[in-house]
Amino acid sequence: MEVIIRPTTEAATELTAQLIAEKVKQKPSLCLGLATGCTMEKVYDKLANKHQEGLDFSLIRTYNLDEYIGLSPENPNSYRHYMNENLFNKINVDQHNTHLPLGMAEDLDKECKLYEQSIKDNGGIDLQLLGIGRSGHIGFNEPLSALRSRTRDKALTPITVAQNSPLFDPPESMPKRALTMGVGTILEAEQIIMLVTGKAKADILAKAVEGPITSMISATALQLHANCTVIVDEAAAANLQCSDYYKWIFDNEPKWKPYH
Ligand code: GLP
Repeated sequence: MEVIIRPTTEAATELTAQLIAEKVKQKPSLCLGLATGCTMEKVYDKLANKHQEGLDFSLIRTYNLDEYIGLSPENPNSYRHYMNENLFNKINVDQHNTHLPLGMAEDLDKECKLYEQSIKDNGGIDLQLLGIGRSGHIGFNEPLSALRSRTRDKALTPITVAQNSPLFDPPESMPKRALTMGVGTILEAEQIIMLVTGKAKADILAKAVEGPITSMISATALQLHANCTVIVDEAAAANLQCSDYYKWIFDNEPKWKPYH
């Protein structure tokens, strides 16, 4: 794992968008794993700008991490709606190549199996983008999610309900369950970038990066991944014990030189 601390949210977000854009240029048919949440909105804005400047997304394939159970794709709170509004409608991706689990599926188990199969049939995820929830979840892998879990339905914890329900009107209408890629599914991505910003995430970020691996905090499983970069701003980095070390690596590792 590498941890990159950027001075501001803007700089952390820009670096994330830049790394994604470079991958798309390197491999136009990139299979991109995508995340939702407020943190990602700024990344998607930047990717939309890069498209305006000529970046071509016509061949990419995308797989989102999760979707609320019971929300139709048209529901303004569904992650499908979020993705259309924040990214897909602003770039030239082929909508047929964008995938989210279907929260309205009649047979949820079958939907999860089909989702896993579809990822496999597409050759696996090249680059998975992640945020982190206050419960330490990646996707909706709430505490006690098995580190080998696959796509499945999951009950959301009170911390997650408290975090996300203000986005719903009324807040009580937020679904209490979701379909999510499993921790095991996420770990199979060839490369992972996790973006974490803001002081509200400082405590959980420190546990995720520097704490012991535990299913109580699914983000700690990223320590097992061979190619995972965690990009954070100074506010989110506040509780890290080894910030100076991470900064030293960023300053001295040749591959990061172009980004200084
Ligand atoms: C939701 C998503 C996560 C995301 C998290 C962070 O819970 N399921 O994938 O990481 O939100 O959201 P925010 O960026 O709004 O803090």
